[in-house]
Amino acid sequence: MTIRLRTLAIALGLLIALAAGVSALLVWRGTYDISATNQHTDTVFKVLDYSMRRSVQSRIEQAPAPPDLGEARRVRSGAVHYRDQCLQCHGAPGVAPEPLAFGLTPAPANLLAAGRTWAPGEIFWVVKHGIKMTGMPAWVYRLGDDEVWDVVAFVRAMPAMSPRDYAQFAATLPPPAGPRTSASTGLRTGDVEAGRRATERYLCVTCHVIPGFVSAQHHVGPPLDGMGKRSFIAGVLPNTPENMVRWLLQPQQVDPLSAMPALGLGEQDARDIAAFLATLDKVPAK
Ligand code: HEC
Ligand code: HEC
Repeated sequence: MTIRLRTLAIALGLLIALAAGVSALLVWRGTYDISATNQHTDTVFKVLDYSMRRSVQSRIEQAPAPPDLGEARRVRSGAVHYRDQCLQCHGAPGVAPEPLAFGLTPAPANLLAAGRTWAPGEIFWVVKHGIKMTGMPAWVYRLGDDEVWDVVAFVRAMPAMSPRDYAQFAATLPPPAGPRTSASTGLRTGDVEAGRRATERYLCVTCHVIPGFVSAQHHVGPPLDGMGKRSFIAGVLPNTPENMVRWLLQPQQVDPLSAMPALGLGEQDARDIAAFLATLDKVPAK
């Protein structure tokens, strides 16, 4: 009996090792086609889509309860955000997405089905947090919770609109506002945790190695480890919290030759990120 059990365990172990080996081989050979010009295979798409739905459903408890989504004021405000921030990828009744959307895999869904079948909390969660490994952005840094609910109200109202209804309704909406940064009123002092989250979203990790972040492996800017201990920012500006905010908002005003772009940070985000950077005190071994 024990011998049989042991044989079974060994066979199982070998099988798992074989499966891991084959997977590693497929990865190493680059077998899976990651090009956006080839759709996912049917099985892969179904698994990904199902995982996405389950992932959303298991997290919506964290979303606050929906307000009254039927209010005309909400639908109207949501329609403005939708036109400016969603339509280019998802289209609207009688309106095709913009050409950039045609290059995305998975293709951004037409939201008529989501508007009909997804619970308001699910749409809220997806719009706020975005979806990894698709082109769906997280809107949390552009839209406040109330504005996200406005968008949800519009997405829910959209399936009932014919192309003609939508065209008539859209003609009554105010023209697009210019680019927006976070409000500069009611600023608080920098918050380390908020700064850590903002650091992740403003693409800082695409150019810098930052402790605690998974990032690209080729770096355009210097590693930010030990930033809290350095005397100067970019070698020119004394490292004080105010100067760090100044640097983050307008690097090129400090150093016109710097390859660090102004990323359109709001003042509050800059304060939060500065507070976070000040906690990085491990000087890298040289
Ligand atoms: C840059 C393109 C892009 C923009 C802009 C964009 N999305 Fe998406 N969205 C996607 C992609 C790609 C997916 C994932 C594929 C899919 O499931 O549709 C997605 C998925 C979704 C889903 C899940 C739909 C489903 O049936 O799977 C919802 C809901 C959604 N987006 C709403 C929005 C809203 C509302 C906005 C505007 C605030 C927005 N999106 C802006 C690209 C975009
Ligand atoms: C496109 C690439 C790029 C992005 C994105 C970027 N940086 Fe930079 N950053 C640089 C480069 C290049 C430098 C070096 C600048 C110089 O010395 O002129 C730099 C310098 C810095 C410095 C000074 C470092 C030192 O050693 O003194 C800090 C701090 C910094 N970046 C923070 C950030 C933060 C925070 C973000 C995200 C909000 C960010 N950077 C986004 C390229 C980038």
